Amino acid sequence: MKSLIAGNWKMNGLTGSASEVEALIGKFSGALPEDRDILICPPATLVATFASSFSDEGVIIGGQDCHTNESGAHTGDVSAAMLADAGAAYVIVGHSERRADHGESDALVKAKAEAALAAGLTPIICVGETKEQREAGKALDVVGAQLRGSLPQTEDEMTIAYEPVWAIGTGLTPTIADIAEVHDFVRGMTGKDVRILYGGSVKPGNAGEILAVENVNGALVGGASLKAEDFYGIISAAPGNV
Ligand code: 13P
Repeated sequence: MKSLIAGNWKMNGLTGSASEVEALIGKFSGALPEDRDILICPPATLVATFASSFSDEGVIIGGQDCHTNESGAHTGDVSAAMLADAGAAYVIVGHSERRADHGESDALVKAKAEAALAAGLTPIICVGETKEQREAGKALDVVGAQLRGSLPQTEDEMTIAYEPVWAIGTGLTPTIADIAEVHDFVRGMTGKDVRILYGGSVKPGNAGEILAVENVNGALVGGASLKAEDFYGIISAAPGNV
């Protein structure tokens, strides 16, 4: 399978931020590598313009969240169908920031993933333990429970992102052995065709080592995806077919 390097811009980016994506494409001299997928998930306000500007250049565009319903009286929410209509191909669901900030349960995340699939999007379903849970030796139990609760029962294409909560935005990462252990565990629960991304403080300097781990099929990158130079470094460090 091709590796997937995904940028989650979170609540960052204005129209002028398109220049970072242009700079990223420019670093590849206009031709993006074909042996890996490059995805950018900007805020919902930028999905349509980014998709129309960059999809033809080979940058895949995705959303960061979706509602479970296709439409209706849900002020402020965005549906998977709307993201697809705007040109998105993927949507992140169950990011730990949404689980924490909006109290999203595994059942809700599963319903969002199902809504994404129904709209023709590939969901990126996020799981990961807190620092306390890891220190208590419960990382695999937590990730296993999240997967059992959040994964739709389907043969449709989906992607999993293992993002330890304590590694997000902190500069901390698990050991390579710990990343391998969780990814092997996730592989055992999902099957061979599912891409399993690692996320949490991925930088140009550690991407090569992390992305070389068996069953790590790509990365979900936060802060370092906002800067063309850093994101380019991570994409370049990735093995192509994994
Ligand atoms: P950072 O790369 O900034 O640690 O964020 C990771 C993340 O949450 C991606 O979804």
